[in-house]
Amino acid sequence: MTRTPIVAGNWKMNKTPPESLQFVRDLLPKIETFGTVEKVVAPTYLSLTAVASALQGSPVKLAAQNGHWEASGAYTSEVSVAMLRDYVSYVIVGHSETRAYLNETDESVNRKAKAVLAKGLGVIIAVGESLEQNDAGQTESFVSGQVRAALDGVPAGDMARVVIAYEPIWAIGTGRSASGELANTIIASAVRDTISDMYGQTVAEAARIQYGGSVKPSNMAEFMSQPDIDGALVGGASLDVNDFASLIEIASRVKGS
Ligand code: 13P
Repeated sequence: MTRTPIVAGNWKMNKTPPESLQFVRDLLPKIETFGTVEKVVAPTYLSLTAVASALQGSPVKLAAQNGHWEASGAYTSEVSVAMLRDYVSYVIVGHSETRAYLNETDESVNRKAKAVLAKGLGVIIAVGESLEQNDAGQTESFVSGQVRAALDGVPAGDMARVVIAYEPIWAIGTGRSASGELANTIIASAVRDTISDMYGQTVAEAARIQYGGSVKPSNMAEFMSQPDIDGALVGGASLDVNDFASLIEIASRVKGS
């Protein structure tokens, strides 16, 4: 089973609209030749419309960092998946920062994931354990539980548009990444095996699973050379256009056909 690698830059709360536009204009000429990798950037909501126009006809796809399941209504500060659908290809849900700072729960992650899929978009579902859970040996059961909860009620036919990002919280923005081998073990046992349990082996083998957490050009090859890791969800290093282009180049070289 060949899975198309997917490298996504989660810009978090960084870059103004002009900076976002400049970034994608600088990026496009650098990544023309890496056709085997799916490339995604996730700017803030504020930049999405302008960046969507700039990316039209390009191989770079756009993601939103979140999205509400209701189409519209009295939800101050929220943006609905229905509003996003004309601009983005993916919506990220369940990032550990939205779980921690915006009270995202397994239940809201599940509602969001289903809303994204119902609108025909792809969803990147982020999961990952805390340092305390890791230290307590709870990583596999916790991550597996998050995957199960996020996918509850998602039909097998939608699974081709689901990407799971395994991001151990202790590795996000800390410079301390999991080793490639350790990340691969968790991804295989807690994510792919859970999908297999829920949907069977064929769906599980086709499912794309990213690693995230302090990914940078110097460790990208280590992650990409792992059999169960199909790409990366990148924070800090995705903000630098040369680093991001380099991550795509490495994914293409290591994973490319
Ligand atoms: P860093 O790459 O900055 O560790 O962030 C990872 C992340 O949270 C991507 O969603």
